[in-house]
Amino acid sequence: MTIFTARRAAQRRELAPFLSTGALMHVLAIVGSTRAASTNRRLAETALAQLPEGSTGSISELPAHLPFYDEDVDSAGAPDAATRLRAEVGEADAVLLVTPEYNGGMSAVAKNAIDWLSRPFGDGIIKGKPVLVLGATMSARGAQWAREEAVKSVTIAGGLPLQRHLGVPSAFEAFDEDALREPELHDDLRTLVGDLLTAAAESREPAGV
Ligand SMILES: Cc1cc2nc3c(=O)[nH]c(=O)nc-3n(C[C@H](O)[C@H](O)[C@H](O)COP(=O)(O)O)c2cc1C
Repeated sequence: MTIFTARRAAQRRELAPFLSTGALMHVLAIVGSTRAASTNRRLAETALAQLPEGSTGSISELPAHLPFYDEDVDSAGAPDAATRLRAEVGEADAVLLVTPEYNGGMSAVAKNAIDWLSRPFGDGIIKGKPVLVLGATMSARGAQWAREEAVKSVTIAGGLPLQRHLGVPSAFEAFDEDALREPELHDDLRTLVGDLLTAAAESREPAGV
């Protein structure tokens, strides 16, 4: 697991309401590209870098090790990578799903992870989990089709995707350390990470229940 914490004082100020409520969160990122220099992984790192101090984020390494979903295999005993991914999602307050666009849809790695997280039917670990969908591509549309498809699949799987999702176009030139070069896009990303934390706080059961 890769752990990130927020670095910048200004970031901490902007997301301070989450600190004052004591609602510190853990966000798990699932990245749909296994490429070493993946821009989607970079986008996940950038999003997690926006978390307020005290909250934590991690990028799961497990999607790359999942076999294709198979109901026979799952009912005979889920493979280790699937069991561990389900545990990681179960421990997270919210999920980032970050996918490239492959031939007009989300990547198979991203879709396969959703499939494993969607079972057992009606009670998959993704059920009720807030999810922020992001996508980066080298083209101008920022993985629009892939993101739309991911929101649909997460919804059908029982997750709670934010209806807003964010795409990063021209991804090879889009990043600068732990920020997006385009200020408006970076602000948008920060707003959406804040929205994800709000959704996670709202979906937590009240204390003592
Ligand atoms: C098999 C394949 C299909 C692709 N199809 C699309 C596509 O439909 N739309 C698009 O914008 N980019 C497409 N691309 C370009 C990827 O979005 C681009 O390579 C992106 O950087 C991959 O993400 P990564 O950097 O995280 O690996 C495709 C790339 C591959 C390898």
